[in-house]
Amino acid sequence: MKRDDTMSKHVRNLLLAVLTLLPAAVMAGPSGQALSFTCAGCHGTDGSSVGPSMPAIAGMDPEVFVDAMKDYRLDKRNPSIMNRIAKAYSDEQFKEMAWFFASQRLHLQPQVTDAALAKRGAELHQKHCEKCHEEGGRPGDAGTLAGQWMPYLQYTMQDFLSGKRDWPRKMKRKVDAAIEDDGADAVSALIHYYGSQH
Ligand code: HEC
Ligand code: HEC
Repeated sequence: MKRDDTMSKHVRNLLLAVLTLLPAAVMAGPSGQALSFTCAGCHGTDGSSVGPSMPAIAGMDPEVFVDAMKDYRLDKRNPSIMNRIAKAYSDEQFKEMAWFFASQRLHLQPQVTDAALAKRGAELHQKHCEKCHEEGGRPGDAGTLAGQWMPYLQYTMQDFLSGKRDWPRKMKRKVDAAIEDDGADAVSALIHYYGSQH
């Protein structure tokens, strides 16, 4: 599935609706919750998104959140709708939203996974990823992997591997090592493991 197929008309319409709403939301004042109304159409009212290419952001570490928003604003992550959205906010507003979403509980949704792949993914994770993505990738200071939407993880890994998103420090080596261990299936195995957690 190409990214463009998923960023369908539906999403573009949502984006248009959102951009129209932006000034009102920004004027609504300094509450992170008020600011977050703008995000609800894609990320859910409390940050647990229902769409497979929209990452869940509930429970996200506030620093990782702010870094992600700043990267989008600087076009440092693969250009997506988020780049345009992030440009509408100040650093202070990023922080307010970060605290609001960090305080929301992540509701994980069941996803269809391949048990054998997920099992191999669990081993690869322990060996190569657990050091930074603790407790199987639960929300922490390296983002959220456990229970995250699998298509989103797929796009994200492609972005890293193709150089469209900068690698977090020391992560590339570990991903390369996982691929060396398990061949081309390694990334898919890891994603099935994360998707199997709910
Ligand atoms: C039109 C849909 C849409 C709207 C509205 C939207 N987002 Fe997003 N958001 C996305 C998509 C799609 C991605 C994944 C993009 C990518 O791959 O970089 C994303 C990614 C993110 C991420 C990165 C998550 C991670 O795990 O690294 C954060 C943080 C985020 N959005 C915050 C927000 C905030 C805050 C708002 C409201 C101000 C918002 N988004 C509004 C669609 C949307
Ligand atoms: C040395 C620490 C480190 C190791 C090891 C590591 N990562 Fe990461 N990873 C990070 C950090 C820090 C971030 C978040 C920073 C950012 O957004 O740029 C991250 C982000 C990610 C993301 C993006 C999350 C999102 O919401 O966009 C994915 C996917 C990911 N890592 C997968 C893996 C996998 C799979 C492995 C093991 C093969 C791994 N990482 C090993 C540090 C690490």
